[in-house]
Amino acid sequence: LDINERFFPVLRTPGYDQETEIRGMESWEARCNDVLVCAYPKSGTHWVWEIVNMLINQKATRIPSMKESAMLEGSSRNIMQSMSSPRILNTHLLFCDIPRDFVEKKCKIIHILRNPKDVAVSFYNHHVRLLDYEYSGTWRSYLPRFLSGRVDYGSWFDNVLHWHEATKSLPNGSIHVMTYENLHTSTEEEIKRLAEFLGVGCNNTLSREICEMCSFSVMKQDKDPLEDASEWKHGEPGMYRKGQVGDWRNWFTVAQNEMFTAVYEQKMADSDITLEYGHDK
Ligand code: A3P
Repeated sequence: LDINERFFPVLRTPGYDQETEIRGMESWEARCNDVLVCAYPKSGTHWVWEIVNMLINQKATRIPSMKESAMLEGSSRNIMQSMSSPRILNTHLLFCDIPRDFVEKKCKIIHILRNPKDVAVSFYNHHVRLLDYEYSGTWRSYLPRFLSGRVDYGSWFDNVLHWHEATKSLPNGSIHVMTYENLHTSTEEEIKRLAEFLGVGCNNTLSREICEMCSFSVMKQDKDPLEDASEWKHGEPGMYRKGQVGDWRNWFTVAQNEMFTAVYEQKMADSDITLEYGHDK
């Protein structure tokens, strides 16, 4: 395979077989007070994970931890078991791949959506910057790859449609669906909605402090305490890249936007999902 075709870094890790690992997770035990932050990659998982941590701890202070170590598919059973409660976990997996015990124990699930055009741009930059990917393709060659789902975690469209159906099947109150865009424009309101869902208090002072501590500039400056700069191009961690809504406009040509919209409309045609990620959004 051409180096740019070898797109799945996890699959390439010697001795690590992603499929077997994920299947092995089926029997993992959940705890009733586990919280699971779920999203397609690059949808704002770090941001929401950090906010949820602060809400649960009722303190706008960053805990010396790292989102990656609380990631279901990036962790081992032992690490998960050694975490103290309440565990704030996260995953990019589909709902059907989440260990069933999390559903049976009615753990709180948060699902984040983001405009797929911004997700595509963010994911492209992630590929180019994270050395493990060994990816040096152009944006032009990446976009069709993203649209056809030949990327880690597969198609954004299939992922979102799958989660939409799963959400409908779950009892009221067990899943909180939010968007990156709303979190961006109404951060404090969204923090309060999250608090309500989690069943924790959040007065105006706490929501303001969390909003500030979790702002893009603060999170970018502080970085994750355990983030390894050597894993990134030029030794510059790239998890906090731009943190904006609509950066896709700086990347998409008119033709690319039309191509994207055509795929979007075709993929979403049979769904009752209502998202405002249409043509010029
Ligand atoms: P960009 O590449 O568009 O900047 P994830 O955490 O799911 O990997 O998502 C990463 C995206 O969320 C990146 O998008 C990143 O910059 C953005 N992000 C992370 N923290 C953020 C914050 N505090 N505010 C706004 N965006 C944030």
